Amino acid sequence: MAQEILQVSPLPPSMMNALQEADYIVHDHTHIKDPGALSKVTAMVGTGSAKVDKKLLMMVPNLKLIAICGVGYDGVDVATAKDKGIVVTHTPGVLTDDVADLAMGLVLSMGRRIPQADKFVRNGDWVDDAFALTHKVSGARLGIVGMGRIGRAIAKRAAAFDMNIAYTGRQAKADVPYRFYNTVQELAAWTDYLVVAIPGGDDTQNLIDASVLQALGAKGYLINIARGSVVDQPVLVQALKDKTIAGAALDVYWDEPIVDPELRRLPNVVLTPHIASATVETRQAMAALTLDNLQAFYEGRPLPTPVPECQ
Ligand code: 8YV
Repeated sequence: MAQEILQVSPLPPSMMNALQEADYIVHDHTHIKDPGALSKVTAMVGTGSAKVDKKLLMMVPNLKLIAICGVGYDGVDVATAKDKGIVVTHTPGVLTDDVADLAMGLVLSMGRRIPQADKFVRNGDWVDDAFALTHKVSGARLGIVGMGRIGRAIAKRAAAFDMNIAYTGRQAKADVPYRFYNTVQELAAWTDYLVVAIPGGDDTQNLIDASVLQALGAKGYLINIARGSVVDQPVLVQALKDKTIAGAALDVYWDEPIVDPELRRLPNVVLTPHIASATVETRQAMAALTLDNLQAFYEGRPLPTPVPECQ
């Protein structure tokens, strides 16, 4: 018998195709008003941006699994899910390289002003003048906030650029050779390029606040490939306008996909549309792992990648 699942966010085509090929019956958000349909649903599938709050959890009486196609699951009320005996899975590992690649791309884009240089050539400005000198990335100081899987992959890439690396996080890691700072402020004060690679959620909300940006200073750049919620965005916009930091490269925002028009008008930012894991290869791997979690659940096998709280 075909299993019925509820889609709790728009899904990448690779995920949608994988579900259809595996013969799942997929209900979308229009069915949320149909208690008959919801009572047949035993699993939910959504991306890292999915919002699964207590209210939604209460509407699906037979729910047993929430399979997130993404590493971040900060939109899921995991505590309530656990209370109700619902397991949450995600897709760690398979997207690490892509996210770290984009982080390095943004570091290079900031320092060497690659998007601005591209615009300069396209606009025909080169015939009038040379492009203004930029800043060296090799040998510069890279501060990483969060030395998890993604933080480590960023450090590995930055090391190949001979960058000076330091980090902060909940605690120093014995197997990480880089200098550890106890606070984000101390790290920011040392750093040229501050890269944020921590999970979203209540614990990290607005962690990058006015005090961190002040410590980063007028020569410092902020790079965020984590979650919009970890940066106090209005404070960041003000710092960029006042040039109290040198620039910011952002892949994530408050209220995605709406991006503050003020931010979009600033010259000292590089903005990408939450694409850190958006390659054909990685989205396929994420879809395959999500499907694997679903299949394992319905076949009674151990789940490949439950979130840490559910292990
Ligand atoms: C995408 C992400 O938003 O993995 C995450 O946490 O933010 C991204 O990979 C998304 O989940 C793609 O399905």
